[in-house]
Amino acid sequence: MKPIILILNGPNLNMLGTREPSQYGYETLADLGRKCAESAEIHGLDIEFRQTNHEGELIDWIHAARGRCAGILINPGAWTHTSVAIRDALVASEVPVIEVHLSNVHKREPFRHVSFVSSIAVGVICGLGSQGYCMALSYFGERLKEQAA
Ligand code: DQA
Repeated sequence: MKPIILILNGPNLNMLGTREPSQYGYETLADLGRKCAESAEIHGLDIEFRQTNHEGELIDWIHAARGRCAGILINPGAWTHTSVAIRDALVASEVPVIEVHLSNVHKREPFRHVSFVSSIAVGVICGLGSQGYCMALSYFGERLKEQAA
């Protein structure tokens, strides 16, 4: 069985493709999911790709990853900057986390420079669009291979 990486997308990311294309480009969430599936295949991983606009649902998914998933790739969207509850859920899951943002949050409004997730993540990727998701999957793939060796 391949290791499972849970890919979580927070609020408004279902609007990708039409939402602020100057920030997020024209790729849709479905395009992003397809890219992640291709990348996962290359790196010997299984993925579960999800999006929600409901914080409690995201938290339930994080809890259910405990002992089941080998990694969580999360783009918490606006909850990055607001949610202690998501940070606490990620810590409780005991699953390694990579935080990914499509846009470079540090080039944007000051409130986007704060993340409740970054300090508990293995790493953070931002500003590289969908490539950032693929890079995170590549990292998980390499790391898991090393651990299995
Ligand atoms: C985002 C950046 C957040 O500040 C914003 O609220 C989002 C998307 C990104 O992927 O660049 O919804 O996480």
